[in-house]
Amino acid sequence: VPAAITINPAFAVAPVNNRLFGSFVEHLGRCVYTGIYEPGHPTADEHGFRQDVIDLVRELGVTTVRYPGGNFVSGYRWEDGVGPRDLRPRRLDLAWHSTETNAFGLHEMAEWLEKTGGNELMEAVNLGTRGLQETLDLLEYANIPGGTALSDARRANGHEQPFNIRMWCLGNEMDGPWQLGHKSAHDYGVLATEVARGMRQIDPDVELVVCGSSSHGMATFGEWERTVLEHAYDLVDFVSCHAYYKPENGDIASFLASGVDMDGFIRDVASTIDAVKARRKSTHDVAISFDEWNVWYAGGDASRTPEGVDNWPVAPRLLEDQYSALDAVVVGDLLITLLKNANRVHAASLAQLVNVIAPIMTEPGGPAWRQTIFYPFAAVAALAKGGTVLESRTDCGTYATAAYGDVSTIDSVTVRCADGSLAVFVTNRSLEMATELSVPIPESWLREDTAGSVAGVTAEARTLHDDDINARNVLDDQNRVTLQPNPTVRVESDSAGTAAS
Ligand code: AHR
Repeated sequence: VPAAITINPAFAVAPVNNRLFGSFVEHLGRCVYTGIYEPGHPTADEHGFRQDVIDLVRELGVTTVRYPGGNFVSGYRWEDGVGPRDLRPRRLDLAWHSTETNAFGLHEMAEWLEKTGGNELMEAVNLGTRGLQETLDLLEYANIPGGTALSDARRANGHEQPFNIRMWCLGNEMDGPWQLGHKSAHDYGVLATEVARGMRQIDPDVELVVCGSSSHGMATFGEWERTVLEHAYDLVDFVSCHAYYKPENGDIASFLASGVDMDGFIRDVASTIDAVKARRKSTHDVAISFDEWNVWYAGGDASRTPEGVDNWPVAPRLLEDQYSALDAVVVGDLLITLLKNANRVHAASLAQLVNVIAPIMTEPGGPAWRQTIFYPFAAVAALAKGGTVLESRTDCGTYATAAYGDVSTIDSVTVRCADGSLAVFVTNRSLEMATELSVPIPESWLREDTAGSVAGVTAEARTLHDDDINARNVLDDQNRVTLQPNPTVRVESDSAGTAAS
């Protein structure tokens, strides 16, 4: 079935914010322990960081890293994770029914981010069991150069210079009844406003993310955002969105169209932001931080937390979903959706980074490898960072879904890359058919970038495909699904112009 993508290089949707390629490291399962940190591993450096994982994180092209949770942060005491390691307490982690050893904390995270190429830390604070004072203490510890008790404690703990953390999440999923210290929208809005005001008294340049909804389907969705923003609007820079997708009752056709839900979610939240801004007559802008998104087979065996008052394991295997070729297509589609909304979504975090619903898997003492979802993320990050999303139109067929009605079979977004080339990202959501895709090359782009010469146009295509949609990359078969050169790509000219197909 043929499809065409018409690009308008004269009209930009928005520059791509590199923070769209963020990820997430939570103290959950083996994300930290035996994921990024494993002293004694054959590739571990002097800090205990796995070099094989660092190499894959660099290849993935991650920018910001949200840390340390997640649900974990709502019971976390940040002080437990700083100072001499042998004095750090072991604590119960109520979110994941585990024992937190605190061998890894803020200093280790900052050090690890340096090793991954200077990625940005996006720090989440505990507004579940804690509040204003503890958040201010952490900010003083992290961002004040010295001369106070907490900033000097940081220096004594080995970090002379401030961490200079810019992005802060004011709690995590406070709308969720599962959240330790869950609050009503009103109570959370009041607390987040107080915390934001106090933080700005210490460091006016922090960028603050207020909790939005844990999913588009939450009963409080919409009203939560409105109420929280009515309190906090002028003091915050982002409102968060979280979304995880999986096939519901085996409905793969709808699952493939998960981007339709994400797109609606973003538009709904953007409308709420605009309505609050208008009502408050504010000149301030609030963007969206989509700081948890992925495919997650939540509710499955892999996500079952330990149980029992005498059973609190350290770094158990939790949420270790093994992603399929099908899941990689959905992740690609979600990335396309984030890029299409680059004018409203200024930050996003693939949840998570290693082992826990992650693009990178490890075995303790063993190898690290790329899951299927690694490939779309790495390819899009490599091409889109520093680029600009362009207006484009996709002409294609539709197919029927139970969840979203008729949806486009093809989803796509076009980015003018930092080097001036065009990148077209495409997903074929059809379970039945391949697509012959044609991309007419805009005349003006031919003039600008190829000196008007068709001979100067080169096209390259790579495709992630497997005849078995359930194919996975696992310990014993780590490279089953990868991104492969697509040999069918060609550039042709006729009286109608030049097109890549
Ligand atoms: O990413 C896993 C969990 O999903 C996070 O801890 C929580 O914020 C969300 O519900």
